[in-house]
Amino acid sequence: MGRFDHRTVFVTGGTGGQGASHIRAYHAEGADVVIADIAEDRGRALAAELGDRALYVRLDVTDESSWNAAVQAAEEHFGPLSVLVNNAGVQNPAAPIETTDRRVWDRVLGINLTGVFLGIKAAAPSLRRNGGGVVVNIASTSGVGGTAMYAPYVASKWAVRGLTKTAALELGRDHIRVNAIHPGVIATPFITEPAADSDAPIADFYSAEPFAIPRLGEPSDITRALLFLTSDDASFATGSEFVIDGGLLLGPALKHETV
Ligand SMILES: NC(=O)c1ccc[n+]([C@@H]2O[C@H](COP(=O)([O-])OP(=O)(O)OC[C@H]3O[C@@H](n4cnc5c(N)ncnc54)[C@H](O)[C@@H]3O)[C@@H](O)[C@H]2O)c1
Repeated sequence: MGRFDHRTVFVTGGTGGQGASHIRAYHAEGADVVIADIAEDRGRALAAELGDRALYVRLDVTDESSWNAAVQAAEEHFGPLSVLVNNAGVQNPAAPIETTDRRVWDRVLGINLTGVFLGIKAAAPSLRRNGGGVVVNIASTSGVGGTAMYAPYVASKWAVRGLTKTAALELGRDHIRVNAIHPGVIATPFITEPAADSDAPIADFYSAEPFAIPRLGEPSDITRALLFLTSDDASFATGSEFVIDGGLLLGPALKHETV
């Protein structure tokens, strides 16, 4: 018996580095999984690999009609949603605010922030029909401090925190919990591939060496936290923010001899 037997779990960006890890883990724990992503080839391939309890739906998180169609397809296939993971996200090409193109700002805010707003809006009625459920919004440690050259991304992730807390207040009495996870730097295409042709991938210049846990995060580090937050074990957690960053937000660890 799995923790998510007979539960419909919908993950946006479900073919990405972290999203696919989440999908596989939920599936292994018995869930009916909905791989919602704009990447059609990867989505179909992952659904085919997982088999009966997996559905790919094409979703552009910036488009409200795409959201409504995807939630409806998920519900018709598996029944009302039990879990929504708003995981889809993009990075901006590194640039100071003064030279950041307005279109870059709009694109990043559109996917990372408006996408989460539309997701909660589209999924809430389905979660209610389920008798309750859980939403987790994947924000970032960049939504807790500032990061030079990444204003659109940082602003989008700060805003997701406010949206998370507001949704938690609005939906709590309907037995819907809403929480956020702040990953640190996780080894996925997000950091190993450039955001634009001219960019160096973040992995080329980031070093985990100064931090308390001196390694990159793995998608599974986030997956395990996510499965806990969306399980019945976390039934009293709502509006919370779960930082999984190997100590990045603590700042550099003092150099000392280990004993
Ligand atoms: N990797 C990191 O270091 C890191 C750190 C903190 C937060 N995050 C956040 O984690 C989440 C997952 O990122 P990842 O590391 O798996 O990156 P990734 O690039 O591997 O995956 C992102 C996924 O989002 C999908 N996507 C992009 N635009 C979309 C749209 N308009 N509609 C639907 N899907 C869309 C992509 O197709 C892709 O599958 C993102 O929200 C990201 O901001 C990542």
